[in-house]
Amino acid sequence: MANNIVWHDHKITRAERSVNKNQKPCLLWFTGLSGSGKSTIANALDVALHKRGYHTFLLDGDNVRHGLCKDLGFSDDDREENIRRVGEVCKLFADAGLIVMSAFISPFTSDRRLVRKLFPAGEFIEVFMDAPLATCEERDPKGLYQKARSGEIKHFTGIDSPYEVPAHPEIRLDTSRHSVEECVDSLIAYLLERELITHKD
Ligand code: ADX
Repeated sequence: MANNIVWHDHKITRAERSVNKNQKPCLLWFTGLSGSGKSTIANALDVALHKRGYHTFLLDGDNVRHGLCKDLGFSDDDREENIRRVGEVCKLFADAGLIVMSAFISPFTSDRRLVRKLFPAGEFIEVFMDAPLATCEERDPKGLYQKARSGEIKHFTGIDSPYEVPAHPEIRLDTSRHSVEECVDSLIAYLLERELITHKD
């Protein structure tokens, strides 16, 4: 960090911003292999929350890498920097009073832990998309596993780059066994139970 930088507290706090929106901010951090369903389920949850009148925002790996993180590749160091930046952006959106969803592979435990530490207890919800590699590879929605297997893409997560499985995720979803609707229902049930949302429908 540069020298001579002083933190300024804002006049309107995070709590005041969220009171105006009549909701509690939090971050649902979707993590898992490419093709495990992160974007699909995060988008479906976004729609479900939006319909209930909640103010939300969704950040997605492929999209963020078109702008904010377009200078980053897939080395371990670049992935670490990707998640660091995204974590900070998620925090800013939560500070704005929003319910935030993020869909990044985020393969390293230490990087996910750093993002967790940016949030008050209970406001960081790690959602582990626990679909088997074989299922993700069979889906191969972008044809990337095929390219990774043929050596056209290097350092592909699950093939020649590691994915560290979350030890204690708040939520675990297996999209090879449950439908999109079932996964969204579980997430909504979790948010209701923790009183992060109050509208059932
Ligand atoms: S992360 O590892 O830094 O969290 P991120 O979620 O931003 O990754 O981006 C993953 C997306 O980039 C994948 O869904 C896939 O479409 C694409 N991609 C391209 N190359 C790779 C690679 N080597 N490993 C993983 N994903 C890749």
